[in-house]
Amino acid sequence: MTIPELDPAVLRFYGETVDEDSRLRDSADGRMELERTKQLLRRFLPPAPARVLDVGGATGIHAEWLVEDGYEVHLIDPVPRHVERASAVCRATLGDARALNEPDDSYDVVLLLGPLYHLPDPVDRYRVLTEAVRTAKPGGLVAAAAINRYASLFEHVSYAHLYQDHMQQSVANIMSTAVYDGERGFTLSYFHRAEELASELVAAGMLEVQVFGIEGPAWSLVKAAEQQPGEGPTDELFASAMAAARLAEPYPELLAASSHLLAVGRTPYRLP
Ligand SMILES: C[S@@+](CC[C@H](N)C(=O)[O-])C[C@H]1O[C@@H](n2cnc3c(N)ncnc32)[C@H](O)[C@@H]1O
Repeated sequence: MTIPELDPAVLRFYGETVDEDSRLRDSADGRMELERTKQLLRRFLPPAPARVLDVGGATGIHAEWLVEDGYEVHLIDPVPRHVERASAVCRATLGDARALNEPDDSYDVVLLLGPLYHLPDPVDRYRVLTEAVRTAKPGGLVAAAAINRYASLFEHVSYAHLYQDHMQQSVANIMSTAVYDGERGFTLSYFHRAEELASELVAAGMLEVQVFGIEGPAWSLVKAAEQQPGEGPTDELFASAMAAARLAEPYPELLAASSHLLAVGRTPYRLP
């Protein structure tokens, strides 16, 4: 199977522009994303030791706690400097989520916490999800993260940018097209609605699919407290936003307000 090259702008963004290693450690919404992702995954992970394939794992931020929890992690990422740094944490190799160089039925868990963000073509996302199903063992867990379609609406209020016409235009474009072209700031990206993410996992053959709001509906209050003049978010505000994320879980209508979404599904058992 021939797959198209990864967009060079995405490789440049992670290879030169941003330090992905600090994204989930240095900002308040990043810390919410890290903590909630851990909490949600720990509900579904099989007991350690088990084999985890962390596709798009960047510098190993999730691999780090998974290894500490006793899992055997293999991280795959297309960005050489990510793989170099992740090698200090676990086995790490260069690769593309759309064509994994891994045998069938070989991992208990496949994580896709990043690759779907940067693939606007639905055929590419289908390849990523079917590759996860192929490499996971029957009955294995696949967890896939996405950026929420409406995340930039909340984010640009927290930066207090949205009163400007060009920001309103840019956010309106993302919400109506689901794509950011990467002209300024972030890079080429795709923004999912929750029900769309769920149906993509189902279309790839996954069962028992559920979607969670990672940061929940109050993340942008924490981000605004951090971005706007003042003392920054208090521990009580952070803990309240984390509680809101948990309390919102039974209400799918609140998924639209989260910054990121996490979908989990199981791969089917096959008849011998
Ligand atoms: C926003 S980062 C997320 C990193 C980390 N998994 C996390 O949850 O914080 C997105 C990651 O996806 C990787 N990525 C982008 N396109 C990919 C692809 N086609 N296959 C595998 N990884 C990809 C990037 O190199 C980057 O490391």
